[in-house]
Amino acid sequence: MIVVGGGIIGLACAWRLAQKGVDVTLFDAAATGSEASWAGAGMLAPGGEVEEDTPHGRMATASLGLWPEFVEELREASGVAIDYRACGAVEVALTEAEAVALEEKAALQAGMGIRSEACSREGAVAARFYPDDAMVNPREVTAALREACVRWGVEIREQEPVREILALGRGVWTTLGRYADKGVLLAAGAWSSRLWPGARESRPVRGHLVSYREKPGALGTILRHNGTYLLQRTNGMLIAGTTTEHAGFDRALDEGAIADVRRRAEGLLPALAGQEPVERWNGFRPGVDGDVPVIERVPGTQVWLAYGHYRNGILLAPETARRVAALVPGEREETSGVS
Ligand code: GLY
Repeated sequence: MIVVGGGIIGLACAWRLAQKGVDVTLFDAAATGSEASWAGAGMLAPGGEVEEDTPHGRMATASLGLWPEFVEELREASGVAIDYRACGAVEVALTEAEAVALEEKAALQAGMGIRSEACSREGAVAARFYPDDAMVNPREVTAALREACVRWGVEIREQEPVREILALGRGVWTTLGRYADKGVLLAAGAWSSRLWPGARESRPVRGHLVSYREKPGALGTILRHNGTYLLQRTNGMLIAGTTTEHAGFDRALDEGAIADVRRRAEGLLPALAGQEPVERWNGFRPGVDGDVPVIERVPGTQVWLAYGHYRNGILLAPETARRVAALVPGEREETSGVS
């Protein structure tokens, strides 16, 4: 099986496929884990992302439930340290109308098993604590996944962009040559639909983030308000996001977007006022139409698709990999659809 894309989704799927005995070669156009998975803050937080009882919402809660075991298994399989904390999240409402909306959302979420309780926060009209929300360092997760893949025999080919998927998924053309295989898993994030015309369109939705050096433990939980969030790594690095921009694949840092994130972050945590961020960056979330990511086999082919995780690629990785491993036959299982 060829996996196209070495972000958290491609790597997690490659690892799970290798574990079930599939021979895997993974291609990445650059270095694994260098795009959206590198840019993501690492919130594992259905409490902030799920507003309706939809398949996406249910997938988010299922995947959150897999994370503790996933991270343990991954640490063990790779020997790589991963900063993961079930730290919980506090969401604040700053107006009466926001307080009503927060209560309504919490009632709907409770019906889906997303727990929360009212709490107080200085300066807020209302606040809720989400005890099950968590955070992870996605850069460490992709490094660990890469190492686990290598240990499981996955061949990783970086700096080798895939140019074309062969008809019916019988392999790929890359910039360096033609590779025949029994099937292809397309997991190239925002770039995916370029490689399989006819698949649900994927498009980049840019987000800017900044980070500050803070005393470890300064922020115990994730803190959020509407589209603004703050979270702190165990080493003290405090990350603030974000923006939602339709700017194509333009990697240039937008000073206006960064100033906007900083202003909102300072509003949420006044201690940040006047502090210069130590890092500023952006990344391309893989957006698609519809509520759920694309996780399916293209009928009549040996092509599988796993992309379109939009704002929740990190959160949804364990459940995506579980689903893909269940869809793709093992080496000794029958495949059907292509002769
Ligand atoms: N999950 C948060 C974001 O996409 O910014």
